[in-house]
Order: sequence, then C-alpha cells, then structure tokens
Amino acid sequence: MDLLQTHKLLDSCECALDERFTVHRLHETNDTSALLERIGPQIRAIAGGRVNAALMDRLPNLEIIANFGVGYDTIDVAAAKARNIRVTNTPSVLNDAVAEFTLGLMIALARRIPQGDRFVREGKWPAGNFGLFSELTGKTAGILGLGRIGREIATRLQAMKMRVVYHGRRRQPNVPFVHYSDLAEMARDSDWLVVVAPGGESTNGIVSRKVLEALGPQGMLVNVARGSLVDEAAMLDLLQNGGLAGAALDVFAKEPHVPEAFFALENVVLAPHQGSATRQTREAMGALVIANLDAHFAGDPLISPVV
Ligand code: NAP
Ligand code: 8YV
Repeated sequence: MDLLQTHKLLDSCECALDERFTVHRLHETNDTSALLERIGPQIRAIAGGRVNAALMDRLPNLEIIANFGVGYDTIDVAAAKARNIRVTNTPSVLNDAVAEFTLGLMIALARRIPQGDRFVREGKWPAGNFGLFSELTGKTAGILGLGRIGREIATRLQAMKMRVVYHGRRRQPNVPFVHYSDLAEMARDSDWLVVVAPGGESTNGIVSRKVLEALGPQGMLVNVARGSLVDEAAMLDLLQNGGLAGAALDVFAKEPHVPEAFFALENVVLAPHQGSATRQTREAMGALVIANLDAHFAGDPLISPVV
C-alpha cells in the first residue's frame, strides 16, 4: 500500500511507516508535480500535515491524513470532509510536555534566565550585578484556550501561586476559574496572557493590537499556540516602545523565519517551536500517527479522529 509523507517525521515513526507502506517522501523530491503525476492514484494515506485541497485533488484514492501534531491548521479539513477523507491528529499525549515548556518560558521571561546565562558567559558579572526582574507569584494569568493543554498549564500556574482566569467561546462547567467572554477584558485584568488556542480562521489575529494594549505596559505575553493568533507587527511595536513588558514566544507567523527585530530585544524569550519536543512525547505522537493508520486499514474506529 502506498503512503505519502509530506514532511520530515521522527526517525522511529518513519521506520514504522516503512514497515507498513511503500512510502513516498514529498519533501525529498525536487519535482513534486512529477512525483504526484506518477504515484498520485496509488496513494491511500498521508502521514504529516500541510495538505490543501489542491494536493488532495492529485490523490484520488486518498482515504486518510494522519497528522503528526495536535494542531491541524495546515490541513484543509473542510476539503477533506467533502472528499470523504478521514483526518487524525495527536491530542493529549503532548499536554504535559507543552505545559511544562510553557511554565519554563514564563519563568525564563520573568527572571530573564537566558539573558542571565549570556551575562555570565560574556564575563560581565564581575563588572556589576545583573538586575532585578519580576516573578510569577501572586500574579493573574489569563489563558486563551482552556483546552487539554490549557488546563495542564492552569494546574501548574496554580502551583506557582498564580490566579488563573480564561477566555474561550464558551464557559466550561466544573472548572474553578473565572471565565471571560471578552478577550480584551481578560487581558486588561491579567498580568500574563497565555495563548494556547488552535490556529485557523476562527482565531486568526485574535490577539489584536487592542488586546495587547489592554494587556498593557506591565503585561507579559506567552504564545505556545500558533503565530497566526497574534498580530506580530503590533506585538513587536509594543515590545519596542514600552507598550508591553515582555513576550515569550515558541511560535511565529512565518516559521522558521523570525523577524530580526526580535533579536535585538532584551524583553523577549524566543524558542524554535519546541513545546512538544521531548524524545518521550515525540515518540508518543509518532506512535499515535501509526496507531490511527493501523486502525483505519484494519477497519477499526480511529483513535483520535478530527473528521
Ligand atoms: P483543545 O483541547 O482543542 O483546546 C483548545 C481550546 O481553545 C479550547 O478550550 C477552546 O475553547 C479554545 N478555542 C478554540 N477556538 C477558539 C476561539 N475561536 N476563540 C477562543 N477560544 C477558542 O486543544 P489543545 O490540545 O489544548 O491544543 C491547543 C493548540 O496548541 C493546538 O491546536 C496547537 O496549535 C497548539 N500546540 C502547540 C504546540 C507547540 O509545540 N508549541 C504543541 C501542541 C499544541 P472553546 O471551544 O470554548 O472556545
Ligand atoms: C509540533 C505542535 O511542533 O502538536 C502540535 O500542534 O505544534 C507540535 O507538537 C508539531 O506538530 C510537530 O512538528
């Protein structure tokens, strides 16, 4: 059976694919169109994301897209549904890793840990002390997206003695946190805005200049969701001009390219989209990709279907 892999995956996941399928690696070819012309009709599965309607149209016998990641904003799910193509993702197995990393980013930003490391390495300490910064204790964190990962972040923020509030489209029953139906109002009442809602049309630019201005000159932003949620130009402007105290960013609008203007700022901590990047979690994500493919071709219910 033929499978199309759309980008590099974990080695162990690629090995498991090779054991089950004849794998065609789209990202390794120089001539995508010629490859699709040649093997398109044979392809019954895709492993990976970045799948639009045009690609689906080149694969008339495609049955399933198994995404490596919980976020599936690079897959045109409506187009897949219209073509009766199933889509799966990798939820839950990465919650702890991403939540842990989010806390790490927040502490790193509040205490300027990467900057302190640089200060020591550059031999600046003997010339004077580093500086005094802020702490999480006693602050309010507003979580945009109290979902699987957001709830794990909330639990950890409580352990940091923070007050947690959240914004989502609906108020959730049985959560001990105040719900804000208006994101700007939540930002106004928060010291930290923690962004962990899905990417896609409904959240595009949701953290607008208005929301960032409501967070204000003492406000800190952490984004572990997708770059598309935040007005990046407005964020940069506010960070440069004192309109926002700081930002810890794991995700960007045009990854892996990050606007160079960020590099000059001392009030940011930057990460290369590494929220889920532990060996243990990436192995679990790979195993879930394979388990969904196995279930599909065995005629069993999918483990984690999106559609
Ligand atoms: P989830 O369980 O589906 O939770 C998403 C939350 O976002 C829900 O609470 C939902 O609440 C809220 N939400 C959705 N659409 C919204 C909208 N238009 N406005 C306001 N709130 C909205 O998702 P998850 O598993 O926690 O993952 C969240 C996202 O994190 C992923 O989609 C992915 O993009 C990102 N992620 C990043 C990394 C990384 O490495 N940095 C790793 C994993 C995941 P309502 O339905 O009530 O609105
Ligand atoms: C990964 C993620 O970066 O699951 C997601 O939505 O953003 C991350 O876990 C990615 O999908 C693997 O490259």
